[in-house]
Amino acid sequence: MARLDPHSCFDDAQPLTRSIHWEAAVDFGAKRLSGAATLRLAAPAPAGPLDLDTKGLAIRSVRTGDGAEVPWDLAAEDAIQGRRLRLALPAGTERVVLEYDASPDAVALQWLESQQTAGRQHPFLFSQCQAIHARTILPCQDSPRVRISYTAEVTVPEPLVAVMSAGSTGSRPGPAPGTRTFAFEMPQPIPSYLLALAVGNLAAKDVHPRCRVWAEPEVVEAAAWEFGEVGTMLERAEALFGPYEWERYDMLVLPPSFPYGGMENPRLTFLTPTLLAGDRSLVDVVTHELAHSWTGNLVTNATMDHFWLNEGFTVWAERRILEALHGEDAAAVAWAIGQKGMDGAFARFGMDSPFTRLRTDLTGVDPDDAYSQIPYEKGARFVVLLERHAGRERFERFIRRYIERFHFQSITTEEFLAFLEEELPGAAAAVGSKEWLYETGLPKNAPAFRSATLERLESAAAGWGGGMRPDPVHAARWPAAHLLVYLQNLPRPLPAADCAWLDRELSLTGRGNYEILVEWLAIATASDYEPVFARVREVLSTVGRMKYLRPLYAALGTSARTRALGRSIFESAKDGYHPLSRRVVESVMESWPSA
Ligand code: BES
Ligand code: ZN
Repeated sequence: MARLDPHSCFDDAQPLTRSIHWEAAVDFGAKRLSGAATLRLAAPAPAGPLDLDTKGLAIRSVRTGDGAEVPWDLAAEDAIQGRRLRLALPAGTERVVLEYDASPDAVALQWLESQQTAGRQHPFLFSQCQAIHARTILPCQDSPRVRISYTAEVTVPEPLVAVMSAGSTGSRPGPAPGTRTFAFEMPQPIPSYLLALAVGNLAAKDVHPRCRVWAEPEVVEAAAWEFGEVGTMLERAEALFGPYEWERYDMLVLPPSFPYGGMENPRLTFLTPTLLAGDRSLVDVVTHELAHSWTGNLVTNATMDHFWLNEGFTVWAERRILEALHGEDAAAVAWAIGQKGMDGAFARFGMDSPFTRLRTDLTGVDPDDAYSQIPYEKGARFVVLLERHAGRERFERFIRRYIERFHFQSITTEEFLAFLEEELPGAAAAVGSKEWLYETGLPKNAPAFRSATLERLESAAAGWGGGMRPDPVHAARWPAAHLLVYLQNLPRPLPAADCAWLDRELSLTGRGNYEILVEWLAIATASDYEPVFARVREVLSTVGRMKYLRPLYAALGTSARTRALGRSIFESAKDGYHPLSRRVVESVMESWPSA
């Protein structure tokens, strides 16, 4: 037997799941998802064990496809991995049917009250399975080394609509009055972390022959406008990576408690509504999730220890697409913004933390605790070095061959390196791959991204302490990304008079772009600037995106007064937070000084 994934009991000596048929009933009153999962095996099994990952699942029955009872046993709970479910399969088993109930606390799910939605009339449910939460909604070999196709039938109360990371195959009246069953099919093999479901009062609008935006009816028009360029992006991405293999690229805009900016669920990217800035200034998140259709969803990290393969390549791709659409200067600005995120993670973990390695060893570590911008930004910088070494055209050919070679496969860093050596001999050694992949911190040969715009913005911000101020009329016309770079480079804390100047002249508290709004609120909060406190409370009471919670709660740790405010906000907001968001906030608050 070989244990190949530190976060799963998947054993490659045992039978392999090939596909899953999932029947799920959604009960909003009990916050319970009840399911029947039929696992089809790749080949008839010999008599023996099949280990599945579960977490919080109450197993009701396990039978073979022929209805014979299968003996099973749940191992003791591991705090990170959950409980191993060991089935004793009779010889020749081709299908196993597991009936179970998920826990109301399943980490993959957030159950929203109607007040947490835009329409305030209907509850909402969404899933987030990456990294290792699929096992909280169905028993499975929950490792990205295993790829499955799936069909699903999801029963929800009327008039709600269910959507999944799959193609729709129609809907019909459900088994009980007042319910409806939605059917889905995902023919391409995917890792379990890409299984996704959302249920709510949903409407859709087409923005391209292959792209449609789903959202609550109250937001669908704004969302369709904001993401109106996605068709062009899709075409650009195909030019870079080769054909799009998932048929459709649809998007779902979730309620604001969604803990991420975006999640690349195949055929249906999940997005935070904080992207709806009204000026298309935050579509880079969509570019990123779209790029995962190749890097991540076609070529997948074998385990979370190789997560940089998903995110590093995707950030690189995102910036290449941005450069193709908006030019080199815009890309340099994006690299600079990314650098700030990476610097923040280095500061949080320490430069010599093992979490700053690209190839990690997360044995015994919860992937959610290791999550940071490092695999994204350090990973993307490593890819840029390879690109600069090979030259653009050669590297583009390399990327296309990489995707062709490994599509619908899950690979390790070492498999990537072997392929790199075959295709671009000597490149790995030339850029110092060993140090980049296996050492902590940031190697000295990290690529620099400079542009005239960046120089200008950074020196303007550096002049703040000496009394230099931007011309407000001019600054009002800065693109959002430029203003963000400027704010990121301002000194902090700032005197109250400086905060007042910024807010008055640049109208920051009223911004609809959350990147700018949150950067500003973090500066002002860390400066103990009281006029923003109400807006901070409002943001932290509605938005669950962890990228925003972390800096705002960190800034609230500054003074006794802001800590009191932070505690009071958390007390009243925490019930509305996703379990992942709540954990992040708790960890930030634990690092506050106690007085
Ligand atoms: N796949 C990630 C989100 C994720 C990673 C969820 C690991 C759970 C575990 C997604 O593609 C992502 O990177 N989202 C970013 C977008 C950004 C980099 C443009 C986010 O949510 O901030
Ligand atoms: Zn990503």
